[in-house]
Amino acid sequence: MDFWDTKRIWIVGASSGIGEGLVRLLAEKGANLILSARNESKLLELKSSFPKSKIEVLSLDVEEISALPGKTSQAWQIFGGLDYVFLNAGMSVRDLVTECKLEVERKIMDINFWGPVAISKELLKLRTPENPLHLVLTSSLSGKYGVPKLAAYAASKHAIQGYFDSLRAETHGSGLFIHIVIPGFIQTNITVAGLRGDGSTSGKMQNALADGMDPIRCAKGILLGLEKEKEEFVVGGSERYTVALNRLFPGLMKVLIRSNPLQRLKKFRKTFFRK
Ligand SMILES: NC(=O)c1ccc[n+]([C@@H]2O[C@H](COP(=O)([O-])OP(=O)(O)OC[C@H]3O[C@@H](n4cnc5c(N)ncnc54)[C@H](OP(=O)(O)O)[C@@H]3O)[C@@H](O)[C@H]2O)c1
Repeated sequence: MDFWDTKRIWIVGASSGIGEGLVRLLAEKGANLILSARNESKLLELKSSFPKSKIEVLSLDVEEISALPGKTSQAWQIFGGLDYVFLNAGMSVRDLVTECKLEVERKIMDINFWGPVAISKELLKLRTPENPLHLVLTSSLSGKYGVPKLAAYAASKHAIQGYFDSLRAETHGSGLFIHIVIPGFIQTNITVAGLRGDGSTSGKMQNALADGMDPIRCAKGILLGLEKEKEEFVVGGSERYTVALNRLFPGLMKVLIRSNPLQRLKKFRKTFFRK
């Protein structure tokens, strides 16, 4: 029997990229899945690829914060409780702080931070001590250090880190398990669907991501980390070492990220590691 067989799992941000990778792997492993995102037709298409699996679709927009408690109790009722909830929906904005409209920065905070918080608050009310609940938050390297042109995105991921570290400490020993996943560069559409500072869609794939890890491989790494009960872990290529570099040599890291950090990291990777 597989670790994930019969687990009741809600994936928020299931329609593409890392979330889609998780759906594909977990459906094959026999999990009971609830898929959420805005793009309902994509979720239904994914469901139809696994006709033998138990998959339900619950479309939602995490930006509509006031609707999230209701959506969360709907998700809870589908399989009579939940074992794992992946709070994976995310959006990026890439621009200088001076070019970013405040309303765009607020939008990023709503999707990446307040959405997961609103869902988690409702889950805290619904869960019972005899039913262990695992919350899986998708953070980022930008949740560990800020880089130019990603201020609001980095703020939202730092906020995830601080909030959920605190919640983990508050609820220790109560059957709530909090896992923070830090993907490196993963080949998804996050920057294509991402915004510019004025709120328009970027439409551009960032080079580092185009060369990044395949989302299915990333999803495999995430499931493995969870099976090992890791509280926080990085999944990605050699860029994952920057987390340790930042912790051990923060001064050096500050110099590295001041200008063109991704190009510098790429050069660093090419010099010291084979991909
Ligand atoms: N790719 C990377 O290199 C990387 C690195 C670090 C962290 N991450 C994080 O990984 C997570 C997944 O991103 P990805 O890389 O897989 O990108 P992606 O392919 O663009 O996936 C983003 C997911 O979030 C959903 N989403 C976006 N806005 C939403 C909203 N308002 N309401 C509900 N769902 C929404 C999207 O679905 P709909 O559009 O259908 O709503 C989609 O399912 C994000 O939290 C991202 O910040 C990615």
